[in-house]
Amino acid sequence: MPRARIHQTNAARQAAYRKRKKRPVPKIARVWSMPNRWTFTIPPIARLLKQECNGTGWVDPFAGMKSPAQFTNDLNPAANATSHMDALLFLKSLPSATYNGVLFDPPYSITQARTCYQGRGMNLLNTKPTSMKYWGDCKTEVARILKPQGKAICFGWTSQGIGINRGFEMHSILLVPHGGSKNDTIVTVEVKKENP
Ligand SMILES: C[S@@+](CC[C@H](N)C(=O)[O-])C[C@H]1O[C@@H](n2cnc3c(N)ncnc32)[C@H](O)[C@@H]1O
Repeated sequence: MPRARIHQTNAARQAAYRKRKKRPVPKIARVWSMPNRWTFTIPPIARLLKQECNGTGWVDPFAGMKSPAQFTNDLNPAANATSHMDALLFLKSLPSATYNGVLFDPPYSITQARTCYQGRGMNLLNTKPTSMKYWGDCKTEVARILKPQGKAICFGWTSQGIGINRGFEMHSILLVPHGGSKNDTIVTVEVKKENP
């Protein structure tokens, strides 16, 4: 490789490193708790929600039974939500840069999602929630509908959150181990940057 190219590559690497170093390191806490199908009732998670989410101007596309959000949706007609659409279509129907926060608590794996839809006879062929692309598209919509400085609280088995590439900065991570061979529930709190 020509010398000039090597220098250029090194300079780019150093710039990326400096940028990474400037990012705030998220605070991490770890609190054991019994698992519960309804995530928001798990005590350390209920406490986090009380601190981080006042509900007003908040959206929850996978609301389940116990969501504190003002605008709620869940595919299951028996869930405690005001709308019962597929989450991606629900998010796409909302205006841009409008909401204070989003709670993002979908099925935690493709297998969980499949189990969730089995036997419900729901026509999901247009949105394909059992593909990875579907969940990425949902996150892109979350980034679109939040105001700058809006918060996204994500739940799952990874600490991926909505992500730096969608203009978010991670402030804190809560790990909730449940014991035995059960996966931890991982909660990330992110804020949408002013100028992503
Ligand atoms: C992990 S649970 C959420 C529980 C909720 N956060 C609570 O604590 O009560 C996931 C929810 O997403 C709903 N769901 C799954 N796939 C969906 C989809 N494609 N669109 C909308 N809701 C969906 C399920 O019916 C289920 O209630």
